[in-house]
Amino acid sequence: MKTIYLDNAATTRVDDDVLKEMIPYFTEKYGNASSMHFKGQEAKFAMEKARKIIAKEIGAKPEEIIFTSGGTEANNLTLKGLFFWNKENETGRNHIITTRIEHDCILNTCKWLERQGAKITYLDVDAEGFINLNELEDSITDKTIVVSVIHGNNEIGVIQDLESIGKICRAKNVLFHTDACQSFTKTFLDVRRQNLDFVTLNAHKIHGPKGVGALYIREGIKITPTMHGGGHERKIRSGTENVSGIVGFGKAVEIAKKKDVEKMIRLRDKIIDGILRIPNTRLNGSREKRLCNNVNISFNNIEGESIGGYLETFGICTSTGSACASHSLETSHVLKAIGLLPVQANSTLRISISKYTTEEEVNYLLEKLVPVVEKLRKMSPIK
Ligand SMILES: Cc1ncc(COP(=O)(O)O)c(C=O)c1O
Repeated sequence: MKTIYLDNAATTRVDDDVLKEMIPYFTEKYGNASSMHFKGQEAKFAMEKARKIIAKEIGAKPEEIIFTSGGTEANNLTLKGLFFWNKENETGRNHIITTRIEHDCILNTCKWLERQGAKITYLDVDAEGFINLNELEDSITDKTIVVSVIHGNNEIGVIQDLESIGKICRAKNVLFHTDACQSFTKTFLDVRRQNLDFVTLNAHKIHGPKGVGALYIREGIKITPTMHGGGHERKIRSGTENVSGIVGFGKAVEIAKKKDVEKMIRLRDKIIDGILRIPNTRLNGSREKRLCNNVNISFNNIEGESIGGYLETFGICTSTGSACASHSLETSHVLKAIGLLPVQANSTLRISISKYTTEEEVNYLLEKLVPVVEKLRKMSPIK
């Protein structure tokens, strides 16, 4: 059976060019980037090339990029690193502002930090998923360390207005972090224009390898490391660098194209319009400020899991939420935050496309989805 992979917000297929670029760094150029000899230096050279590519993509300097094992680590490092730096230096600041629609790796880090003495404000969002800028401004106090707001949401695809948030943070003299794992290379991201002090990135959402990410840290800002060791990555993140992964990450960024984004927007809109023709459906998140690859629809009165299960019998992979949370049976915190009732939230399907998604696949999805929904609705005890 043919596979139609529509779960690209969970992860993406590694691009052939990315893989080709990576392979020599396993087999021939396998040096440790910290070694002084030529094998080490060839690895270091490749790693620095990737750092330059990634920095340029977000308007940063290469020295402002720290490689990590992925988005989860970069998010942990930002919040824990800042909290403990402020604690060690007795600045009197212990307050972090974030939102109710963050990825679990931000929310669970915040929960853990609360047990270490941090005060966390969780900003509400409106029905489309946007934070309220006045509420943000009012939440900032003289104890606030950082504001952390997800750029493109992994479940509902809403894109926050980083420029306006950045202006508020700058005016109030607090740091600004964004988790850009889902938005990187898909929408405008510029650390200077948007006044960003920290940005979390990863490779596996953009056809790069899993297990590699990066954290942009604006020059001059200090954090306490969470990983202690040999002092790699400017003493901020010890541990032998994942050179092949970093090389793949750089290549994935280098080959990301605007025309792929345009294609995804067209196919995304075709899916949205096609599904919304089914009565009693609603699109979650903003229609206009939306990731190019995200569709998130509630079908009401039928289980999203059942729809996904039926689609799978046709070889179509979708998701009911974020991959990291789908093992839990709890209602999505993001859908709850935009005001969905549990019964609506549980009827939700996330379809996330990539540059590899074709028009034929979209047609096939729509052809199969309509009868699946009709069938499940007939079977549903809730009308
Ligand atoms: C918005 C967001 N942040 C962070 C992560 C975690 O990144 P990683 O899988 O690289 O640890 C993901 C991926 O699931 C994500 O979508």
